[in-house]
Amino acid sequence: MAKLLVIGASRGIGLEAVRCGLAEGHHVRALARSADRIPITDERLEKLPGDALDPEALSRALEGVEAVIQAVGVAAGAERLLKPVSLFSESTLLLVQAMKAAGVRRLIAVTGFGAGDSRRRLGCLRGAAFRLLLGRAYDDKDVQEALIRDSDLDWVIARPVVLTNGPRSGRYRVLREPAQWRHGFISRANVADFLVKQVESDENLGKTPVLLSCPA
Ligand SMILES: NC(=O)c1ccc[n+]([C@@H]2O[C@H](COP(=O)([O-])OP(=O)(O)OC[C@H]3O[C@@H](n4cnc5c(N)ncnc54)[C@H](OP(=O)(O)O)[C@@H]3O)[C@@H](O)[C@H]2O)c1
Repeated sequence: MAKLLVIGASRGIGLEAVRCGLAEGHHVRALARSADRIPITDERLEKLPGDALDPEALSRALEGVEAVIQAVGVAAGAERLLKPVSLFSESTLLLVQAMKAAGVRRLIAVTGFGAGDSRRRLGCLRGAAFRLLLGRAYDDKDVQEALIRDSDLDWVIARPVVLTNGPRSGRYRVLREPAQWRHGFISRANVADFLVKQVESDENLGKTPVLLSCPA
């Protein structure tokens, strides 16, 4: 079993990745500013409070790790719409540098449907609404994706559609071809299931799949 570092581990997809990684028998190091509040106790879980923008915290977090799941996110809310976003690009730049220095090769990152070359598949009306609501965050996710693609690491970029808090059913589609990309919903727990599977699978290396629930 591997030792994983989950960055952005205190909520959402990251917290689900912690749960899923433990359930699959991995050792999990969980980094987030509020990691000490993660509501899980397990001898294979190490909670590491720290900032993904702090190079020293990153290099400590990477010690002895075989794979990194990056699931940071910015707070939603009206005030967020007006502020520039740089968390995704800045944390990724530091992470790629720190992984190279530590000799950790596998990076499994979450961006979202609408990042990078998937934006042109949103359609006109949805694309306009998307730009208005999420444009700043996704401009930064574009930079994040470019940094990862250019990194020379062994990477997977997962692009989930709209997230829900549903269960881990394992019933979701991994759409690798642009012609297949479409809107929909997927649970954070199923995204986490995909991320944790990439720790030991080479099937999606260098790919940017869109993740979508199977129809009920
Ligand atoms: N909402 C959607 O429908 C949707 C769709 C597609 C993709 N996505 C993307 O999916 C990702 C996960 O979203 P989510 O809603 O599941 O999670 P979330 O609630 O946004 O959680 C974000 C995580 O990032 C951590 N974080 C934020 N800033 C950090 C920093 N400077 N250092 C360390 N950790 C930091 C937070 O922990 P602390 O605050 O404790 O540090 C938290 O654990 C995001 O990138 C989001 O954009 C969302």
